Amino acid sequence: MARKFPHSYVVCKCRNVTLGEIIYSIKEKNADSIEKIGESTDAGTCCKCCQSKEKDIGVEKMELYLEQIVKSLRNRWKKKS
Ligand code: FES
Repeated sequence: MARKFPHSYVVCKCRNVTLGEIIYSIKEKNADSIEKIGESTDAGTCCKCCQSKEKDIGVEKMELYLEQIVKSLRNRWKKKS
């Protein structure tokens, strides 16, 4: 992710789920996929526009997608191991 987002940034506008909640679900609840994040936080379970650029059918595009967050954290963990 080129731009830094604060933990308070709302990634899923339908369910009002923040980046911090998503990171917590990935790290503490082992939600390592978009589906598991949805089960844990409800993010991405409504219009699904926040899941990925391809699924974003809105006129005004989102700045950050669940897919990017999962990829970014996976890459970060790979580098550490
Ligand atoms: S913005 Fe996340 S499901 Fe609609």
